[in-house]
Amino acid sequence: MNKEKMHLIWDLPLRIFHWLLVLSIGASWYTSNQDNGLIEYHLWVGYFALGLIVFRILWGFIGTRHSKFINFFPSLKKITAYIQSFKQAEPLHYAGHNPLGSLMVFFMLITIFLQAVSGLFMDDDIFTTGPYSGSISSSLETVFIYIHRNGFNLMLAAIALHICAVVFYERVKKQALISAIITGKKSAKIVNKKDSINHSKIGLAILLSIVVAGFIYWLVVLNAPVIEEYYY
Ligand code: HEM
Ligand code: HEM
Repeated sequence: MNKEKMHLIWDLPLRIFHWLLVLSIGASWYTSNQDNGLIEYHLWVGYFALGLIVFRILWGFIGTRHSKFINFFPSLKKITAYIQSFKQAEPLHYAGHNPLGSLMVFFMLITIFLQAVSGLFMDDDIFTTGPYSGSISSSLETVFIYIHRNGFNLMLAAIALHICAVVFYERVKKQALISAIITGKKSAKIVNKKDSINHSKIGLAILLSIVVAGFIYWLVVLNAPVIEEYYY
């Protein structure tokens, strides 16, 4: 049997990032419910999600070709050209994120980042507080608490749209996007060899993960202000 020729498009660190992000968002949601008694774990899962996003932001500058922000930044020109090409028999095709998809990618990364950062200032008015709760003015803290409690729905809406779009491209447009975000590879019938990447820069990704883990530890443990607690 002839094996279909494939080209590597998504590097391994990006794929691991994606599926760990899916797991951590699910876990953040599950542990955030006060009735589960898991809110302590919610903080740890939240720090992990924050670490993932920080990793992805830096990977957007030093990662491989299709992971770099500069190569899929959604300018108005690119978005309109892409939408207009729908009328043509051969619409524009992208090896990495298409301009509409990249708009959604930036939106999701920003909303998840805001959700995780605002969590650092949270206070549930019972026992659980983020490490920076009480360390800023109360009006700013109110804004962060508002974002954390309400931003989640916006984030969920963006994720739902993302999944619907992926399923649409998969089913209707017959583009195998889901297997690509698992294996990293796309068929040579739809992407050219010149668009593929040679390797995943794994050594660099490991080094970056260590730096990011160190930064998160510094942020939430070493640098966190000690809040005085009063017991009555
Ligand atoms: C909590 C749920 C999810 C979140 C937060 C999420 C987030 C993301 C993000 C941020 C990216 C961009 C990757 C990057 O360049 O950094 C992405 C891409 C992608 N995701 Fe998800 N995702 C979720 C669930 C899913 C699910 C369930 C599927 C499969 C059904 C999926 C399929 C994909 C695919 C195929 C891409 C690549 C899109 C493209 O080819 O342009 N995602 N996702
Ligand atoms: C992407 C990561 C995160 C997600 C998706 C997330 C999501 C949520 C959700 C949905 C709630 C319930 C809000 C409500 O009661 O309506 C919640 C509550 C909470 N979160 Fe997060 N969170 C994240 C990260 C964090 C982080 C990093 C911290 C702190 C370090 C944190 C601290 C809290 C606390 C203390 C509550 C309880 C607040 C309350 O219900 O009064 N979260 N989070």
